[in-house]
Amino acid sequence: MKGIVLAGGLGTRLRPLTSVTNKHLLPVYDRPMIYYPIQTLVNAGITDIMIVTGGNSAGDFLKLLGNGKAFGLKHINYTYQEGEGGIAEALSLVEHFAAKQPVCVVLGDNIIEGNIAAAVRAYKEQGKGAKIILKRVPDPERFGVPELSGQNVLRIEEKPKTPKSDYAVIGIYMYDGEVYDIIRTLKPSGRGELEITDVNNAYIKREEMTWEELDGWWTDAGTFESLLRASNMVAETGANKLELQRANEISVNV
Ligand code: DAU
Repeated sequence: MKGIVLAGGLGTRLRPLTSVTNKHLLPVYDRPMIYYPIQTLVNAGITDIMIVTGGNSAGDFLKLLGNGKAFGLKHINYTYQEGEGGIAEALSLVEHFAAKQPVCVVLGDNIIEGNIAAAVRAYKEQGKGAKIILKRVPDPERFGVPELSGQNVLRIEEKPKTPKSDYAVIGIYMYDGEVYDIIRTLKPSGRGELEITDVNNAYIKREEMTWEELDGWWTDAGTFESLLRASNMVAETGANKLELQRANEISVNV
């Protein structure tokens, strides 16, 4: 399975912090924001990673990350999104890299306390289709929100005024090689973007969507409030903690 970190876009909600630099290079407590989604993939055992960047300071990612030595990697792949055509457009740029293999996509401003290894394992067993990860939040209207019926997702609405549940669809998605054909059918939304929620709704229509609930805290870091919250949560409890079992394996191997 290949890993994708989406770190394009202009970060307009964080201006003037993002007037000259890329949102994902801003500090979240003691690390640049992009460190967290990369660590999320590595902790789930996904080491063949592509970063989609764009906007300001795109070249600085190479300076910062190089070949990924800080994460125990030997190589990182990079590509560039022109403009801010949306999350699904950014994802369409990895088609060649993914070469029909399944992908785990992490939004560059999403930070988790724990580990997604179990969800990745479950998706591998699923074999095809898509998987999303949900988290209960006090402010679902800021996110993609699922309407649920037991284990089934009926539909996802992007930033609904009247949310149909108190869950957010977090920015970690797993897709099979069909995702690029789905993206080719999308039309830009009201905000002029190809929406990841439309991709997810297409998989729901095909009855090929599953979901898991995330353990531990999750936050985005794309607004002043959430950026501050992210720094505080990392400072207080730490992020990207390994699963206990995996942590033990690693300490045994060291
Ligand atoms: O954080 C989870 C939420 O992320 C989901 O619940 C929503 O369904 C999903 O649409 C998204 O909502 P946002 O409006 O918060 O996404 P935002 O525009 O802030 O973009 C999130 C990341 O995606 C950003 O840090 C980098 C990447 N991105 C975004 C755009 C618009 C790109 O790589 N290229 C883009 O053109």
